[in-house]
Amino acid sequence: MHHFHYQNNELYCEGVPVKKIAAKVGTPFYLYSSATLNHHYRVFDGAFEGFPHIVCFAVKANANLAILRLLANQGAGADIVSGGELHRALAAGVDPGKIVYSGVGKRPDEIRTALKAGILLFNVESSMELGEINRIAGRMGRKARVGLRINPDIDPKTHPYISTGLKKNKFGIDIERAYQDYLRAMELQHLEVIGVACHIGSQITEVDPFLDALERVKELIGRLEQAGIPIRYLDLGGGLGICYDQEEPPHPHEYGEKIVDRLRGLKVTLILEPGRVLVGNAGILVTRVLYTKGSEAKHFIIVDAGMNDLARPSLYGSYHGIRSVVKRPGPRVKASLVGPICESGDFLAKDREMAAFAPGELVAVMSAGAYGFSMSSNYNARPRVAEILVQDQEFYVIRKRETYRQLTWGENIPEILK
Ligand code: LLP
Repeated sequence: MHHFHYQNNELYCEGVPVKKIAAKVGTPFYLYSSATLNHHYRVFDGAFEGFPHIVCFAVKANANLAILRLLANQGAGADIVSGGELHRALAAGVDPGKIVYSGVGKRPDEIRTALKAGILLFNVESSMELGEINRIAGRMGRKARVGLRINPDIDPKTHPYISTGLKKNKFGIDIERAYQDYLRAMELQHLEVIGVACHIGSQITEVDPFLDALERVKELIGRLEQAGIPIRYLDLGGGLGICYDQEEPPHPHEYGEKIVDRLRGLKVTLILEPGRVLVGNAGILVTRVLYTKGSEAKHFIIVDAGMNDLARPSLYGSYHGIRSVVKRPGPRVKASLVGPICESGDFLAKDREMAAFAPGELVAVMSAGAYGFSMSSNYNARPRVAEILVQDQEFYVIRKRETYRQLTWGENIPEILK
């Protein structure tokens, strides 16, 4: 469900014609719908109603301050994986008591800052990290609340780059090993052991892998309780998929209901770390056609957004719907929608049927709200694009387009070269 729709053949985001925004801010830009974000949050959160839970939005999916604030206003916490994400979450006004810190490589300075901020929980990913957090907390005269992120060895049946819960992945701690680490963590004075976490992957379109992972986590919680280690937080990570094309992921209600069903009797607060399912279909990338070229066999539509703006198609071969911002009658063609970057891998859609876009026309790249802007870069010295948020009849620039001056900010030509 989203609020991008056609009215008289023109694409609107809520009450605003996309064309009007393009005329005002130029292209390319990311465009988000508040109504969609609010709706997605409410549906997801509502799916766990009746069971104590915290929804910690995975900041990596979309780290814009306004998006974080919008979700925080709804009650969301944050799942962070770096000091930078912590900074963003705090700057957006996320309650530190609802921040969980995951990630395999937390630096000492990042751990310190998170401890200072008073975050809810560190999801620890190795034995060494346990020791490091204990040491830092000790020095600061604090206790760090921790849980171990276990690797449940579950196949989430998704793209290998975004599957994280298999033994061969770098994430988490093997369950057997984790049990030993819990015993050790209990001995460490500056740790308060309160949680168990897992995250098996992303864009998962079935509920079963989540339930399988949950079973393993529950087993571990049972063993820990027997050993006198009470677990108060069960973090099931994120990963629920969305529809980009033909996928039929479970509705959050089904996902929530089945999970809650398996949790009955367990005295824990459930933590969820959704990213994509909240923001993915709440955002699009709007770009303008520069040129077209090619023969009968190969038709290229060259637009002003590239793989530096939206990396997903190049990186994972991901599908994003391609729509006209202003529909007009005319033939459809088989074409590739490509960007200006000097790489053959620079495409937004490859060999697909689409409108025969002409130069100057606006194109909407759909479902780009998650891992779109947040994975964008300055490759080919391209300023990162603007981000716009619509609410009802109004639109707001929530990130200005970068300038050329910003591109070279911080760079320095040393005297010896002058
Ligand atoms: N929690 C942890 C520990 C994670 O590593 C992730 C995503 C999430 C939560 C949120 O997962 P989500 O609900 O968004 O599936 N760049 C890739 C996705 C990478 C996901 C990495 N971890 C893409 O564009 O498909």
